[in-house]
Amino acid sequence: MSKKVLVIGNLGYVGCVLNKHLANDDIEVFGLDANWFGDDKIISDQKKYTKKQIIGDIRNEISQQNMWSEKYDAVVYLAAVSNDPMGKRFSNVTHEINGEYCLNIAVEAKKKGVKKFIFASSCSMYGIADNNFPNENSELNPMTEYAKSKVWAEKELENISSDNFNIISLRFATACGSSPKLRLDLVLNDLVASAILNKHVEVLSDGTPWRPLVHVEDMSRTIRWGINYNSEKNFLPINIGSKEFTFQIKDFAKMVVDNIPDTTLSIATDKAVDSRSYKVDFSLFEKLSGESFYPKFDSKKSIFDLMECVKNLDIPKNFRKSNTWMRLKHLENNIHLKLMDENLYKLK
Ligand SMILES: NC(=O)c1ccc[n+]([C@@H]2O[C@H](COP(=O)([O-])OP(=O)(O)OC[C@H]3O[C@@H](n4cnc5c(N)ncnc54)[C@H](O)[C@@H]3O)[C@@H](O)[C@H]2O)c1
Repeated sequence: MSKKVLVIGNLGYVGCVLNKHLANDDIEVFGLDANWFGDDKIISDQKKYTKKQIIGDIRNEISQQNMWSEKYDAVVYLAAVSNDPMGKRFSNVTHEINGEYCLNIAVEAKKKGVKKFIFASSCSMYGIADNNFPNENSELNPMTEYAKSKVWAEKELENISSDNFNIISLRFATACGSSPKLRLDLVLNDLVASAILNKHVEVLSDGTPWRPLVHVEDMSRTIRWGINYNSEKNFLPINIGSKEFTFQIKDFAKMVVDNIPDTTLSIATDKAVDSRSYKVDFSLFEKLSGESFYPKFDSKKSIFDLMECVKNLDIPKNFRKSNTWMRLKHLENNIHLKLMDENLYKLK
């Protein structure tokens, strides 16, 4: 019998790739999303992969009532205020959605007899870690509201995990790659879009920070792995990425320029260094997942995938200022600010 999986935040950048992955694996996807960044087209396009789609805010009681109409095998929590700049601008709401409501949903899922909970966490919780390759037992050093919200959620999730309620926290590297709901506020996506649209790649920092990246297709395959994996641990945090796809930002920029003809490169060597820099140890995932789930996309494959995607979309040259392609700009300019009002959905 097919598994039933509830995916919260299934209409975002990762969710729109994940829906298809799960559906192709004969998993019945039940989606819930406030559709912050979408439009009617995304909803109708994604319908072919979902058994049911709820459009609603997780913080809203009615959404939650509609959501528990089925008995799920697993719940995947992707909903988030999903990067550092947004976390800085909307810090309370970031803690609320990424942390408190994640816990709230997990508690509810446990009560309803769901056996598996997958949390989309982030390697950014290691903070500055450019020399010592932190593994899952290393100290966490979250430097931003976004990273702090993920650390908070993990701690609380660990406390409620049990033999019958298994939680896997996937600490993803920075995402990249094409998606039906593309975002360009991610480092490689930004570099490729700049190269294609402006024939120039501009690195806004000195480019020395290290970043592990992971393609959104590989993220989705990992979530599928997590849904099916029988863990010996009730709470399993695990780094998701690969050493083959970890470079300094300036090297990613050079690779983009080398692969896209007639493009120039500038690096702001005089600008302040981006203090977030990390190389991460991905050996646990390699050991547990085996070859079939280990990331398949490297830099070159991801750059070519993004080139195709960007060429086929109507993206303005100055996309860095655009609501459509930058999450923060969208939230600041488009969303009814009510949704970001931290007092509206306070948990009792
Ligand atoms: N993109 C990355 O680089 C990356 C890296 C590591 C981890 N992650 C995590 O993976 C997850 C998915 O990331 P993404 O890039 O798809 O983000 P995204 O911003 O594209 O999508 C998040 C989705 O969640 C929905 N959402 C947000 N708050 C909601 C609420 N209160 N109720 C209902 N829906 C809500 C939004 O409408 C959006 O569709 C996030 O948890 C993110 O922190 C992402």
